[in-house]
Amino acid sequence: MVSPIPDFFQQRYGYAPLLVRAPGRVNLIGEHTDYNGGFVLPFAIDRRTLVALGARDDGMLRVASTFSDEVIELPLAELAAAQASGALRGWAAYPLGVAWALGVFGADLAAVPGADILIDSNVPVGAGLSSSAAIESAVAMALTDIWQLGFSRETLARVGQRAENDAVGAPTGIMDQSASLLGQADSAVFLDCRSLESQVVQLGFDAAGLAVLVMDTGVTHEHSTGGYGERRASCEAGAAALGVESLREIGIDELDRAGRILDDVTYRRVRHVVTENQRVLDTVALLETDGPTAIGALLDASHRSLRDDFEVSVPELDLAVETALENGAIGARMTGGGFGGAAIALVPIDGVSRLQVAVDGAFAEHGFGVPETFTVRPSEGAKREP
Ligand code: GLA
Repeated sequence: MVSPIPDFFQQRYGYAPLLVRAPGRVNLIGEHTDYNGGFVLPFAIDRRTLVALGARDDGMLRVASTFSDEVIELPLAELAAAQASGALRGWAAYPLGVAWALGVFGADLAAVPGADILIDSNVPVGAGLSSSAAIESAVAMALTDIWQLGFSRETLARVGQRAENDAVGAPTGIMDQSASLLGQADSAVFLDCRSLESQVVQLGFDAAGLAVLVMDTGVTHEHSTGGYGERRASCEAGAAALGVESLREIGIDELDRAGRILDDVTYRRVRHVVTENQRVLDTVALLETDGPTAIGALLDASHRSLRDDFEVSVPELDLAVETALENGAIGARMTGGGFGGAAIALVPIDGVSRLQVAVDGAFAEHGFGVPETFTVRPSEGAKREP
């Protein structure tokens, strides 16, 4: 599909833009581990944000999008004050927050030119597929290009996270931006969120005849409020009580000790994180030795742990996962932060349509809203368009 964005930009601003695309992500496994210094295994998907961007010589940032009529203008010189006073709001907080965060990481915002920024996205919003990280990654890469900052992809991931944490106000980890920036076709990004070292891990879904079906429940989640922050606080409290900097330091063999020290709820939060880290390591090892058909049980165990110990699932996600497992999936789990959003099923390619029908039927039977189901492919990370 040819994107109308370059023409739209040309018409609106009268010159040809630089184009950068950055994908959303699915997390294969490793949930609520990133902000605990743990392991994650996400992959970039074939749904993307496209950013068209051009330099302006008047020091002004002007952001527009194809999903809102709003055009926001802010002088670069006022960015820091706007961020400090909490004036960056709504969708524009993402691109403007990124511009601000590039300054935090060393860009001299008094010396760089302004920019016209136009954003288009086909990453579903609220599905837990990181539509926000896709915007952040694309804008970070495009501004880095015109501002000639030479920042690495790893630094851009941290810039995106900083924008999300401080401008948008969601206390999220580094996983989503890393997947969007470091992803490769047919592969996942195995990231150690303590050292920030990463490795590309071949998935081989196509070769094994497998597809990833996203089952978007339509239940929207909001990470800047509520449950996500509470879970994060519980993990921090657990780590403090156990005398470690992060839960990454706790091994499975220390869970007994944790059980004696912690209250029941905190213990279960800790047990999720500790066992989930191990499941990521096991998944990476199994992918290498036995291929993707062998990882189903680990995905299922991850879901149960998120449902029962971490308590971030919702009935719609549980139903999607159960229905998938009863209808031919080799593994299924909720993906992303939870409290709504989407679940994924790893399913033989020729079983996809049957599963879609089964999920629709199950949701109707339970009186839940109509889910959206679609397949995604592990895809290349952010890149400049030719
Ligand atoms: C959200 C956050 C990520 C991560 C996941 C849970 O997607 O943005 O940083 O914490 O939740 O794994």
